[in-house]
Formats: sequence, C-alpha cells, structure tokens
Amino acid sequence: MAKPLQVEVYNPNGKYRVISTKSMPGTRWINLLIEQDCRLEICTQKKTILSVEDIISLIGDRCDGVIGQLTEDWGETLFSALSRAGGKAFSNMAVGYNNVDVNAANKYGVAVGNTPGVLTETTAELAASLSLAAARRIVEADEFMRAGLYDGWLPHLFVGNLLKGQTVGVIGAGRIGSAYARMMVEGFKMNLIYYDLYQATRLEKFVTGMSYGQFLKANGEQPVTWKRASSMDEVLREADVEAILINCSRGPVIDEVALVEHLRANPMFRVGLDVFEDEPYMKPGLSEMKNAIVVPHIASASKWTREGMATLAALNVLGKIKGYPIWGDPNRVEPFLDENSPPPAACPSIVNSKALGLPVSKL
Ligand SMILES: NC(=O)c1ccc[n+]([C@@H]2O[C@H](COP(=O)([O-])OP(=O)(O)OC[C@H]3O[C@@H](n4cnc5c(N)ncnc54)[C@H](O)[C@@H]3O)[C@@H](O)[C@H]2O)c1
Repeated sequence: MAKPLQVEVYNPNGKYRVISTKSMPGTRWINLLIEQDCRLEICTQKKTILSVEDIISLIGDRCDGVIGQLTEDWGETLFSALSRAGGKAFSNMAVGYNNVDVNAANKYGVAVGNTPGVLTETTAELAASLSLAAARRIVEADEFMRAGLYDGWLPHLFVGNLLKGQTVGVIGAGRIGSAYARMMVEGFKMNLIYYDLYQATRLEKFVTGMSYGQFLKANGEQPVTWKRASSMDEVLREADVEAILINCSRGPVIDEVALVEHLRANPMFRVGLDVFEDEPYMKPGLSEMKNAIVVPHIASASKWTREGMATLAALNVLGKIKGYPIWGDPNRVEPFLDENSPPPAACPSIVNSKALGLPVSKL
C-alpha cells in the first residue's frame, strides 16, 4: 500500500473533518475553521500537483469538505469519493473553475465554491505590468545589463513602444478585463477597443463619462475614446497593442505552437504570458524567445489577494457544512474579509447554488 501523504492537523477533536490539499497564505482561514468545530488537515506533502489518487487518499472514509487548487482534476472520480465519505462541500482556491466538472458535482450534490471579488485588481495589475514590461523590453534589458553587455548609451538600445495615445484591445471585458482597461486608459491615456458577449456599460461610462472623460477635459487634455468591437478579429485589427499580446486568463486560449512561430517570424511582436497551454510546461522554443516574457501563473499573487482567497475558500466549505445560505453578491465580499469582525453566516460564492437549489442569504 502507498504511504499516506503528510498532513498537518489542527484541532484534532473537531466535529467536522475538512481537508486543504495545500497550505495557503495567512492564518485567519485556519482560525475561522477551527473556531467553528472543524478538524482541519492540511496536506504538507512536498509535491506541487497532487494526483486524483493522492486526493482520494486524503479524503479517506469520512470527510465533510475539501479546499482544493486549480491544478487538480475535480471530476466524477473525486466528487464520488467525497460524496461516499459524506462530504457535501468543495471550494477551489481560485475564481476560475475550469478544473472542475460542475455537472459531476451536481450529480453528487456537492457545492462548488470559488473566490471572486479579491483577484480582480491584483490580476489586472499583473496584466498591466506585463504590458509595460513587454512594451519597454524590461526583461531583455535587465538580462543585457546583468550579462555585463552595457558599455554606454546608444540611440537604438532597447527601443520599445510608447503606450500613450495608442489603442489597447481587451477580449473579455468582465471584472479583470475592465479593471485592466481602466488602468491602461487612466494611467497611460490609451484609447480602448473591447470585445465581449455583453456590453460593458460601466466601463464605457468610465472612459467618456463623468469620471475620467470629464477629468481629462478639465485639464485641457485630449479625450480618450472607446469602442465595442463586433468580433475578436476587429479588436486584433484595430488595437495598436497588436504588437503586444498579454494573457493572464487561462493558457488554452492561445495556440502556443503558432505563437512561437509568430514570435520567431516577427521580432517586434511581443508577448507577456502568465498562463500556458500545457501548464506547467511551455511549448518548445518559447523559453528561448527574447520577445516573450513568461511568469509562473502569479497574476493573483499579492499577499492581500491570496489571504483573501484562502479565507473565501474556507468560508465556502464551512458555510455549506453549517447549512448557511449563499451570499447575494459574490463580487461584494468585503464583509467576509474584515479581520475585526466575524464573517457573515453565509457561503461567499457557490457556483452551482442554483442547480443545487440552495437558498440565498437575506443579509
Ligand atoms: N492568471 C491568473 O492567475 C488568473 C487570476 C484570476 C482570474 N483568471 C482568469 O481570468 C479570467 C477572467 O476572470 P474574471 O474574474 O474577469 O471573469 P468574468 O466572468 O468577470 O469576465 C469574463 C468576461 O469574458 C466574457 N466572455 C466570455 N466568453 C467570451 C467570448 N467567447 N468572447 C468574448 N468575451 C467572452 C464574459 O462575458 C465576461 O465579461 C478567467 O478565465 C479566470 O479563470 C486568471
């Protein structure tokens, strides 16, 4: 028999057994669980990505809920194992849940939590950082400097792109896309073209309306413009940052083999990637491309955000175990994050609450 995975146990006599497949930042999430009579087991095994078999062994014969990670494959096998162990609650520590088969969770009556509302600005800031780093060739220049190659100022040395007055294109102007658009419009006075299935009314109003548009006018500056494109192709055609592509969403939205070919054929085209098609691997050739900036899926990696995600994931699981209703607006989760008062008696965000017929909180 395989050796059991290493775990750290908190409050061993707690009534509800909750597993976290990884250690997570902060301690508030741990305290919230143990104060509410949970026995918490945190997997401390030195293995970055746990397999389905690993997680089955952690769940064991009796388990009330699991906090898991986006690197894990939560499908039929794990939800049936959790259900057999008496568990009715799972939460991803992520806003995205493309690693979760929600239909399988519905079949076994398991609530699936996620953590919206705390990643938006942090993720948008990383997208903005990658945009700047790509436009101004920061990583290439840093490598050049460290290699001792700098022997004096030159007119052509690492010439990049000016963002001011150019057009930024956003595909998917939801929470993160809109926050990123605002940063680029407000910070660098870029015009905006976006494509989304829905109209981003608040974003449009921000660009031209009372807030930023008026501010620019009052300061005698050129107003910035926005346009909703009717297709993704239109965004690519009209956006000036077509020479710069940023992906902070999920790896498979980009064909990485085609990207490597394009980077090779067009040295002035630059890309900033936080996520990869076959994460954690990069397609052959990508790591050698000077015009690519690659970072290891760190878009949500600010202390505030990661601690907030841990808290929300723990409260999703705890809330379901306790039979609490679902919070009315998953984007307004501040009451759950206030360290000076107990969190509301609700689950912050359960993505299959409608399918499971769970009641909505009146708080
Ligand atoms: N890299 C990271 O660490 C990281 C962190 C947070 C979120 N994410 C990812 O970022 C993405 C966006 O997160 P969010 O919180 O802004 O989500 P969101 O739901 O608020 O926004 C997504 C937007 O995309 C639009 N959309 C969906 N399908 C589309 C299509 N085919 N064409 C055009 N638009 C489409 C939706 O209408 C919506 O406005 C998710 O994929 C999430 O998993 C990544």
